Amino acid sequence: MTPVHGRGPDLITRGGTAGYQELIRPVLFRVGGGDPEVAHERMIRLLARTPAPLTRTLRGYTAPAPHPVTVAGIRFPNRVGIAAGLDKDGIAAPAWAGLGVGHVELGTVTPRPQPGNDKPRLFRLPASAAIINRMGFNNDGVEAMSRRLEEWGVRRGRLTLGTVVGVSIGKNRTTPLDRAGEDYLACLRRLHGLADYVAINVSSPNTPGLRTLQDADTLRGLTADLVGEARTLNPTDPTPVFVKVAPDLGPDALEDLVGAVQDTGVSGLIATNTTLARDGLDQVDLARAGEVGGLSGAPLTARALRVVGRLASLTDLPIIGVGGIMTPADAGAMFDAGASLVQVYTGFIYAGPALIRGINRLALHDEEDR
Ligand SMILES: Cc1cc2nc3c(=O)[nH]c(=O)nc-3n(C[C@H](O)[C@H](O)[C@H](O)COP(=O)(O)O)c2cc1C
Repeated sequence: MTPVHGRGPDLITRGGTAGYQELIRPVLFRVGGGDPEVAHERMIRLLARTPAPLTRTLRGYTAPAPHPVTVAGIRFPNRVGIAAGLDKDGIAAPAWAGLGVGHVELGTVTPRPQPGNDKPRLFRLPASAAIINRMGFNNDGVEAMSRRLEEWGVRRGRLTLGTVVGVSIGKNRTTPLDRAGEDYLACLRRLHGLADYVAINVSSPNTPGLRTLQDADTLRGLTADLVGEARTLNPTDPTPVFVKVAPDLGPDALEDLVGAVQDTGVSGLIATNTTLARDGLDQVDLARAGEVGGLSGAPLTARALRVVGRLASLTDLPIIGVGGIMTPADAGAMFDAGASLVQVYTGFIYAGPALIRGINRLALHDEEDR
């Protein structure tokens, strides 16, 4: 274990985030007797009930000035989004615009609903500003999410909810690996016309064998099949397909991966998912380090940045940078490493909406400087 990371309690300079970190977070972390999953579900349900006028008002605070950017042919209202897994079933999809994000990646969804792994399966490591999870794609299934999106009038390219809506797709646990492609195709077929993009999730550590789908030949076939299907479904304007990668791939494996997907017509890469490594944890959290699952948050920052830098050196495909973005400066480093957009999950849990506001400000200033 490497020494104390020291970024736990106060992630952003005081003022910008004091309201959330000092008032809201302590309450949130105590909800459900301190059970993180109960707190998470309540937060999502609360967001889902946010009235639309409040969403619009909040948006003025969190994303004060629009600075749209086109990536992979999609016009994003700004450069920061919510990473997959925070709103797995899209229950709070209409609320995210109010928090200032330009996109939200819903899911991961699978063709059939599934309960995920046994609880407990979500652990906070507050001293390290980290989370370990082994959720295992708990979700209501692609049909339930699609119906929800349809009820809200979501259509691809319309920004109905004020944000770009991407959907992360995966395979059911019970689907054999050699038939995984059918699951991804089923999700794409149902989401086509609704999602602004789909992300192939082959990088979650919590579905047995899933990461083997990142092997070059397998991934080439899977990606080509999905891109091909997107073109069949809409020959003039196919749904963009992204691939989300693990942070535990070394430089050579990343080169193989890029070589495999580069010419498939894939629209971009999302880097990274959670890590199986346990570096960078605060001593206080070492007892939790043995929990099986993927680690996210501050201990992942440097690793994710390295992967994004390596990918950017290998390809001109657009990259969405995610992993350990806990401060606006972390997002700035991701942009400098070559990311066109960034996503947050754990940083949002620890620092709250001020993180999104801070990243929006930073991206806006960077553009003004250019
Ligand atoms: C509780 C939890 C659940 C997650 N579920 C998913 C998921 O379903 N699909 C996915 O692609 N990534 C999932 N992730 C990974 C995040 O999208 C993100 O890639 C990772 O946490 C690194 O970003 P962060 O350090 O900002 O959290 C999950 C992360 C957490 C903490």
